[in-house]
Amino acid sequence: MITEIKKIDKKSLEQAKKIIDDGGLVAFPTETVYGLGALATNDEAVKGIYAAKGRPSDNPLIVHVHKDYDITSLVDIDSDYAVKIANAFLPAPLTMVYKSKGVVSPTVSCGLNTLAIRVPQSPAAQEFLRFVNAPIAAPSANISKHTSPVTAEHVFEDFNGKIPLILDGGRCEGGIESTVLDVTGDIPVILRKGLITAEMIKKAVGECRYADEKVEGVAKSPGMKYSHYRPHAKTLLFGRYETEKAVNAYNEALKNGLKPVFLLDGEMRLKLEKLGSFNVLNFGDTDVERAANLYEMLHEGENYDLIISFALDIKSELDLSVNNRFSKAFYSVDEKR
Ligand code: TXA
Ligand code: MG
Repeated sequence: MITEIKKIDKKSLEQAKKIIDDGGLVAFPTETVYGLGALATNDEAVKGIYAAKGRPSDNPLIVHVHKDYDITSLVDIDSDYAVKIANAFLPAPLTMVYKSKGVVSPTVSCGLNTLAIRVPQSPAAQEFLRFVNAPIAAPSANISKHTSPVTAEHVFEDFNGKIPLILDGGRCEGGIESTVLDVTGDIPVILRKGLITAEMIKKAVGECRYADEKVEGVAKSPGMKYSHYRPHAKTLLFGRYETEKAVNAYNEALKNGLKPVFLLDGEMRLKLEKLGSFNVLNFGDTDVERAANLYEMLHEGENYDLIISFALDIKSELDLSVNNRFSKAFYSVDEKR
């Protein structure tokens, strides 16, 4: 199969709609990462997503719709707070988990009685979703366990020959996946951290907590139990005071004929600059920059053999969200390989 990358225009949207209607897969941009979309009501098409990604069959998918889509045709909205949150934030990098009406393929939610729905903010995603005017099941458009894609080229690297079309909307601005919020209980619960934080939701409806604060800890968002989302390069993580050890590891790699690179936030970049001249990838000076840069830099890091970084100094809720992905891409120094 030939995989085409096309800018979004009337012609490519028509092509995308035809592929989707026929049960095929189309990759499309959102404000977070690229998604690999299929018609959510077509069971064979949804199964095709799992097959193409090599995704475990117990990790449910998010359904994407445009902002005027009537989601009450897909789910029951049981709580007033859910409506308030939707009105306050959507469209946004926020996915809300509701009680499903069972309209879409059961494969989307892996047999759960809930359904995750996202109304993405990016105009490109809205354009695509409006054009197909149907619920689109879409995980991030990466092979399972690989780093999430934030450009059309990243999608191409993983799916060349496996899908017919990638809609190219340039680089995703947010850079980390949407917050997943369970709105089926008494209060909203964040199952996956993201750009919309508990603080922001509390401001809108008074209450919100993170799922992992809960002691009994049944895995609520199945995707969160998978702990390795890695670039195709070795990774090594040090503590923020272990600069000497990190430089030794860098030099050792050079000595062994490997190409190492540092992934550095603003503060660590200043520290390392005093110790020598190194290949450096810029993680970012602020939490927003780090969220936007993480996946782009991990993909850049694949041009090297070894990516060395330092534990994040977590100063905000958004840094917590970033760290959730960052730590999954790195082995700690002590971890046996
Ligand atoms: O930003 C995003 O959310 C991107 C773009 C493409 O929209 N999508 C994305 O999808 O990150 P994926 O498949 O990589 O992650 C979906 C997450 C997983 O952690 C999954 O377990 C959770 O959403 N999820 C989906 N349906 C769920 C449900 N019914 N209940 C609980 N968690 C659910
Ligand atoms: Mg993913």
